[in-house]
Amino acid sequence: MGKDTLTITDNRTGKSYEVPISLGTIKAMDLRQIKASDDDFGLMTYDPAFTNTASCKSRITFIDGDKGILNYRGYPIEQLAEQGDYLETAYLILNGELPTRPQYDAWAYNITHHTMVHENIKELMGAFRYDAHPMGMLMSTVAALSTFYPEARHVHDRQNRQNQIFRLIAKMPTLAAFAYRHSVGLHFVYPDNDLSYCGNFLRMMFSVGKYDVNPVLERALEVLFILHADHEQNCSTSAMRGVGSSEVDPYSSTAAAIAALYGPLHGGANEMVLRMLKEIGSKDHIPAFIKDVKESGGEVRLMGFGHRVYKNYDPRAKIIKRIAEEVFEVTGKNPLLEIAVELERIALSDEYFVKRKLYPNVDFYSGIIYQAMGFPVDMFPVLFAIPRVSGWLSQWNEMMDDKEQKIARPRQIYLGADRREYVPLDKR
Ligand code: CMC
Repeated sequence: MGKDTLTITDNRTGKSYEVPISLGTIKAMDLRQIKASDDDFGLMTYDPAFTNTASCKSRITFIDGDKGILNYRGYPIEQLAEQGDYLETAYLILNGELPTRPQYDAWAYNITHHTMVHENIKELMGAFRYDAHPMGMLMSTVAALSTFYPEARHVHDRQNRQNQIFRLIAKMPTLAAFAYRHSVGLHFVYPDNDLSYCGNFLRMMFSVGKYDVNPVLERALEVLFILHADHEQNCSTSAMRGVGSSEVDPYSSTAAAIAALYGPLHGGANEMVLRMLKEIGSKDHIPAFIKDVKESGGEVRLMGFGHRVYKNYDPRAKIIKRIAEEVFEVTGKNPLLEIAVELERIALSDEYFVKRKLYPNVDFYSGIIYQAMGFPVDMFPVLFAIPRVSGWLSQWNEMMDDKEQKIARPRQIYLGADRREYVPLDKR
């Protein structure tokens, strides 16, 4: 076994440098010493979209994209989805260990007793247009929460951070359900603290008069929430960490993370999958659609397929495909499922997708289940955001305690104009 170092020879100068390798990485700052001349700034790395740059050390989520492995704090996602519930998973992600019974009870109590929102929040939400997208409403309302809890800006106070964590995890379902009910013109339903996290959410969404939570749908939602709880340094988590690194309060950072999740390439993809399946309309139209995707040069995408990290079947998609069957026994089959299954079959045997290692991701089947459960398509990214809040907060909390972190500030390669003199408006 050789030394844990990397020797770099700069062919511009003939000089050699030895830089340490630690945890499979070199420090980008170690390259700064490599200079072509004395006034040279020093070598930087260029990595648009951070495809090969670790921005932090983390102990929360492990992904092996080639093997299709996803673990939270070391526990395989399959075991958590099979045996755990969402609140227990959120505790695990945030605290590093599964809770004991007393820890679980205290945690669930604290979450349950923060589910109410200030009455002014209702008025704020009531001001949105009737057709406002619920994700836009959620993003704005979460940002507004920072004005209701101004003490949240004391981000170096751990207990203070913990209080905001209770509040955010607790209030997300309430805000999500209020956003939906505003869009359909229904009265807001207040939380029922006797119900589970998911049961309460289903009731706040769908209750019109008496409402009994269906245990199969409640369990399916638990599993979907477990699967969506964290996914290490993706676009929205990077937004949470990047914005949080300015030491702003967590409501503002979470609003930024929700904004990132809203995009069609991220959490907006499940909505796009449904729209795509509807547009395809029937199994006979699949070959023509696949042809369009292949010939579009990347413009038309098979939504719900492909992933920056997974180059194998997304383990979350496997679990979701399985629970779809259980949900459909209660709700009746969603006719779009047949199209999705056939689309997957055709894509997975097509050279274009095989060569690029494009497999179904978490969004491919989740929308079909959500739709069967009665959620409108607009709510899909919101359903992604509710559980992801525990991951975002966990990543933020980890960052706040990490002495190696500071305000995020990437470098650039400037390719613009050289210095030039200002010309007054009338002389141009
Ligand atoms: N359909 C068709 N072609 C695709 C797709 C797709 N869904 N995804 C990637 N490709 C092609 C792409 O055109 C490129 O081809 P070429 O090498 O010929 O230029 C190649 O595969 C590599 O694609 P990329 O865009 O460089 O890959 P990426 O790692 O930057 O993108 C992705 C990852 C998820 C943005 C992309 O696969 C995609 O747009 N998928 C559809 C949207 C989607 O389902 N997003 C949800 C992601 S999972 C949930 C989440 O974490 O948000």
